[in-house]
Amino acid sequence: MQVAQFPSPYGGTNQYVVPVAGGAMGKTWIEAHWIGLEAGPLVPAVAKANNIPANVSGVFVDEVTLVAADAGLLAGDVITAVNGIQVTDLKSFKNATKQVALANHAQVTVFRRGGTRNIAVTAPDELGFAQIEGAPMILATDRAPHGNYGPCDSCHTIAPGGINLNQMAKDLGDILTTTAPNIKKGTPAPHGNRGACSKCHVLL
Ligand code: HEC
Ligand code: HEC
Repeated sequence: MQVAQFPSPYGGTNQYVVPVAGGAMGKTWIEAHWIGLEAGPLVPAVAKANNIPANVSGVFVDEVTLVAADAGLLAGDVITAVNGIQVTDLKSFKNATKQVALANHAQVTVFRRGGTRNIAVTAPDELGFAQIEGAPMILATDRAPHGNYGPCDSCHTIAPGGINLNQMAKDLGDILTTTAPNIKKGTPAPHGNRGACSKCHVLL
C-alpha cells in the first residue's frame, strides 16, 4: 500500500494512491498467480470497497480456479499467511509460497467476512510458487489510460522506439513508428514528470 507524492506541474503537490511499490527491476507489481488463483495488492480503495478493515494486510484474491477453487478459496478473500508465514504484499506472498513450492499441500490463512480462517490446499503435484507480473510495457508516446500515478518509468518499462539510441535497436518486426521528439539537453519539459528524459527522448 503506497501513496505517491510529487510536485505538480501546475504548482503544489499531487498525492495519489498507487498500485504497490517494489517489484522486478524496481517496477511495480500488479498481479500474482498461484494454484489457479489471481491476487493483487490490497490497496486502500480495494479494501474500502470490500469492507476490509485497515488493520488487515495481505493480498486480495480476485479470481479463483483449479486447485484454489477445490480447496474452497473464494474471490474476495485476503490471503494473510501461507503455512504461517505472514503475507503483507505481493513480494512477501511470493516468498511465502516459495517455502511450500515443492510440497503438495499447505495451509492458507485468509481474512473473510470479518474473521480469519485456515484453508488446507492440496494439489495433485507440487504447489509451485507465485508468478508475479508488473505493469505492462508502454510506448514513449503512450497516454496513460489511468489517473496520474507519477513518473511513467517508476512502474512501466518504456518500449524501445526508433530513435531511442540507448535502448534496443528498432528491427523490421517493430511496428512502432511514432517516437518522442529529440530534445536539446536542458530544455524544460512542457509536459508533467513522466520519468527520466532519456527513457523516451534522445538528448541532443
Ligand atoms: C504507479 C505505477 C504507474 C505509473 C507511475 C504509471 N502507470 Fe501506467 N499503468 C500502471 C498499471 C498498474 C497499469 C495496468 C492497468 C491499471 O491497473 O490501471 C497501467 C496501464 C497503462 C497503460 C495501458 C497499457 C496496456 O497495455 O494495457 C498505459 C498506456 C499506461 N499505463 C501509460 C502510462 C503513462 C504514459 C504513464 C506516465 C505518465 C504511466 N502509465 C504511469 C501503473 C502505472
Ligand atoms: C514516458 C516518455 C517521456 C518521458 C520520460 C519524457 N518525455 Fe518529453 N515528451 C514525450 C512525448 C511523447 C512528447 C511529445 C509531445 C507529448 O506527447 O506531450 C514529449 C515532448 C517533449 C518536449 C517538446 C519537444 C518538441 O519538440 O515538441 C520537450 C522539450 C520534452 N518532452 C522534454 C522532456 C524532458 C526535459 C524530460 C525529462 C525531465 C522528458 N521530456 C521526459 C515523452 C516523454
